[in-house]
Amino acid sequence: MASLNLIPMSKLRVFLVFCCLALSMVGMVSSASKFDELFQPSWANDHFIYEGDEVLKMKLDYNSGAGFQSKSKYMFGKVTVQIKLVEGDSAGTVTAFYMSSDGPTHNEFDFEFLGNTTGEPYSVQTNLYINGVGNREQRLNLWFDPTKDFHSYSIHWSPRQVIFSVDETPIREHSNLEHRGIPFPKDQPMGVYSSIWNADDWATQGGRVKTDWSHAPFVTSYRGFEIDACELPASVAVADIARKCSSSNEKRYWWDEPTAGELSVHQSHQLIWVRANHMFYDYCTDTARFPVAPLECEHHQHRH
Ligand SMILES: *[C@@H]1O[C@H](CO)[C@@H](O)[C@H](O)[C@H]1NC(C)=O
Repeated sequence: MASLNLIPMSKLRVFLVFCCLALSMVGMVSSASKFDELFQPSWANDHFIYEGDEVLKMKLDYNSGAGFQSKSKYMFGKVTVQIKLVEGDSAGTVTAFYMSSDGPTHNEFDFEFLGNTTGEPYSVQTNLYINGVGNREQRLNLWFDPTKDFHSYSIHWSPRQVIFSVDETPIREHSNLEHRGIPFPKDQPMGVYSSIWNADDWATQGGRVKTDWSHAPFVTSYRGFEIDACELPASVAVADIARKCSSSNEKRYWWDEPTAGELSVHQSHQLIWVRANHMFYDYCTDTARFPVAPLECEHHQHRH
């Protein structure tokens, strides 16, 4: 926004800002749905709390965590949920929001929110599993306290990239590099999931801080469920998936547009800012773990 001061450019910039606002409003037409239009509890039904029509809470106590899943599976598109994480002492707890396919060679796109002791920051871990193999962790701290308010967390999946964003700020971009022989997840439909559970063997400060059950229940709140993706019936044949979810002459899906999902100049700068100021772990630079950097890292780094 500081660049708005540039006088010769100011008119153009105001115009551009206006355009972008208008565009993003068009994008927001897919409005939020109620929880049970899209999702259902997948375990521990009795650990759900419904607050009116809008807010859903899940609690973790000594007996159980809880989880929900989408009723349908999807290919490509954008999934957003607003989450308010466990307030106060959340050490040892993990809240996850992710997409996953089924089977031994599954794909998965993960947000994992690692709790902390009161006053210490939550960490956000993202990861991708491709053909059953993960090990692509990145970790960052957020630029706000995620326990005070709802913030939106999105997974944007197109045939060309997967983008994780927080309040529409991209925090991770994973590009399709199939032309270099690197596999990319684009042939398995995925469900959308969230859960809260006890992971005090690893989550907080490397597992040193344990869950303090005297502070239970640990409650995560959700609202603003949005799925704008190609929805697949439960029993769809593999051959039909590609046909149904790729654009053809009759229908164009927005995620097949040449620039869909591509970061704008502004978003690329945001991603650089996040990486420089908030990311404290990246598997791509963990030479102890990967003496030879994974091939995709080389290519991803060249892009930024
Ligand atoms: C918890 O807080 C400590 C101290 O500020 C920090 O080093 C750590 O990254 C935080 N997050 C987790 C999940 O341990």
